[in-house]
Amino acid sequence: MEVISSELQAKETLRNNHDIVLVPTMGNLHKGHISLIGEAKRLGKTIVASIFINPLQFGKNEDFDNYPRTLNVDLKKLELAGCDYVFNPSGNILQNIMEHKASDLSNKMCGKTRPGHFDGVVTIVGKLFDIIKPQHAVFGLKDYQQFLIIKKFVTQNHLDIKITGGPIIRERDGLAMSSRNNLLTPEERLIAPIIYKKLLWIKDNIKKLPKESLIKDSFNFFSSKGLMAEYLTICDPETLAEANNYDGSVLIAIAIKLGNVRLIDNILID
Ligand code: PAF
Repeated sequence: MEVISSELQAKETLRNNHDIVLVPTMGNLHKGHISLIGEAKRLGKTIVASIFINPLQFGKNEDFDNYPRTLNVDLKKLELAGCDYVFNPSGNILQNIMEHKASDLSNKMCGKTRPGHFDGVVTIVGKLFDIIKPQHAVFGLKDYQQFLIIKKFVTQNHLDIKITGGPIIRERDGLAMSSRNNLLTPEERLIAPIIYKKLLWIKDNIKKLPKESLIKDSFNFFSSKGLMAEYLTICDPETLAEANNYDGSVLIAIAIKLGNVRLIDNILID
């Protein structure tokens, strides 16, 4: 595995490669990320992971400075997973970066409390696409809204890149894997699996109970356990518009605070 640390080096190294699958990350890799490398290997020949903690997608009160930096361990994990190249640039790639605006999908769900976040995401992803020039890119479906926004970004900019979503990888007790899980106290970690359990409960009852009861009951349940749901939505998985009939596919998605930690999760019913 080769580590590439500048834009120029990336362009030179990958110039003649036309079967590249890119897996963008911000490092601090867990099994969820590693499963994306597995997904990537099914899609193409040359696997490039990027590790770049993108300041553009962090809000003022979000913790860019304290974001875990675990490069050496990350590189070992990627090598073991069969990654070919790791693009790990310095902040220089932000110089003269072309800024992109995320589509209207960014006004919903996480976008409501994280203004500018998805603009920062599409700006850096656009830059990574421009440097690496992949034919495919893989993103985790835990960040479902991000996945959708990037798919739309690619279509709107007529980029010839296929975007694939990698399934959510869960701990044995159902908690979706996330770098943020490490920030939970042992007590919070024990409570956290109720998030997925409640999403499953909604899925099981989606045609049995009125939508208002599903949502209200869940909010009440979470607050009785000390969790504060930021949003809980049952929506169309393409437009993120609130769903009122459940004959097609449906997304159940949540963002919730457990102590100081903000967690997201979702279930897609196809
Ligand atoms: O999902 C992430 O880790 C980031 O948002 C991404 C896609 C690597 C862009 O910085």
